Amino acid sequence: MSDNYKPGLEGVIAGDTAVACVDQGVLLYRGYPIEQLAEKATFEECAYLLLNDDLPNATELATFKKELDSFRALPKQVVDALRLIPNNVPMMDVLRSMVSMTGHFDPVSDPADNKRRAIWLTAQIAGIIAARYRLLNGQEPIAAIPGLSHAAQILYQAQGTEPDALSAKLLDLTLMLYAEHEFNASTFTARVICSTMSDLVSAIVGAIGALKGPLHGGANEAAMDMLKQFKSGEEAKAWIKDALANKKKVMGFGHRVYKNGDHRAQILEVELRKLAASKNQQVWMDIYDAIKEPMVNEKHIFPNVDYPCGLTYYLLGLPLDLYTPLFVAARITGWSAHFIEQAANNRIYRPLSKYVGPALRSVTPISVRA
Ligand code: SDX
Repeated sequence: MSDNYKPGLEGVIAGDTAVACVDQGVLLYRGYPIEQLAEKATFEECAYLLLNDDLPNATELATFKKELDSFRALPKQVVDALRLIPNNVPMMDVLRSMVSMTGHFDPVSDPADNKRRAIWLTAQIAGIIAARYRLLNGQEPIAAIPGLSHAAQILYQAQGTEPDALSAKLLDLTLMLYAEHEFNASTFTARVICSTMSDLVSAIVGAIGALKGPLHGGANEAAMDMLKQFKSGEEAKAWIKDALANKKKVMGFGHRVYKNGDHRAQILEVELRKLAASKNQQVWMDIYDAIKEPMVNEKHIFPNVDYPCGLTYYLLGLPLDLYTPLFVAARITGWSAHFIEQAANNRIYRPLSKYVGPALRSVTPISVRA
């Protein structure tokens, strides 16, 4: 293999960024460690940080939240279009279509103002997820309550009642952990689309398509789908033994960048254990640990953020079909930050390929072609 060729661009630096990095296993958003943000900030503060250069002060945060609220109402045409999509269509496919649809009603007049456009899309994506959730349950979409946190807003507009503090706090934590992760596949997709001087909505639609895959954001749903088959830790233990013997890919584990554990998974797992205890659902942690232990101790393959997140959402009573869309509801901020950064210092992405096709040959006219 030529030394320039790295399958999956593994280990290849494909650009520079000031948005985030994983430094010695620690995830930093513009220099702030994610565990400090998780402890001392909120999703809105992280969103502001990613879209600007620093954390907001109280006034800047209030203005940001007000602007987010001002963009929450869905255009009637978007809700009408939501009703036309068959109920069995996965929420990620719905989101891919509806972000494209809402893009036709972009209220931001300045084509270059992608910071405001990102705030608008952050509000719209949350509203689309909640509206679809209600329509699937035979209920009409409901308007936002100004002033709720973004996480509480999503739960309120989906479930019709303001969430308890723990649910809102945990969703807010997952949104912070999911918001940004440097040049992952979906972010890189957004940057490639940006690099042709295309628009933010196109980049976000492309990024949603990339995130959907079970090797990427779709892993949170796939991981919970795996856990749901077990009634006990014992059952899970037998399954993982067989899975490892048959070299099965176990969803929610492994990572291209973290080789000694995903920093975000470690943070979320602590809260997940508290949540399971508060709901008297220890059996789920027995199942969770039964899968995790041999992966870590025998394969040295650690949980990534999707492994604890799937079970967290499940214990919050959210349907699996919502898990990756909630990842989108957070990552829209990171994707937009990268789009803005790429546009500010752009060079079109056009890598080379290693040709493995037929050697040079001549065309035989159809009249004599066998
Ligand atoms: C996300 O990039 C990001 O930052 C992504 C993300 C973000 O925030 O944007 O962090 C979000 O996508 C997290 C990852 C979610 N995906 C999954 O949980 C799916 C399962 N994981 C794997 O498919 C895999 O670990 C990847 C895709 C995450 C990473 O793939 P790599 O770096 O290409 O690793 P690999 O597939 O080459 O695996 C190396 C070895 C292989 O063994 P050998 O063939 O060399 O013997 O580790 C094994 C793999 O078989 N391995 C696994 C495994 N992950 C790797 N074996 C079993 N189960 C797994 N999950």
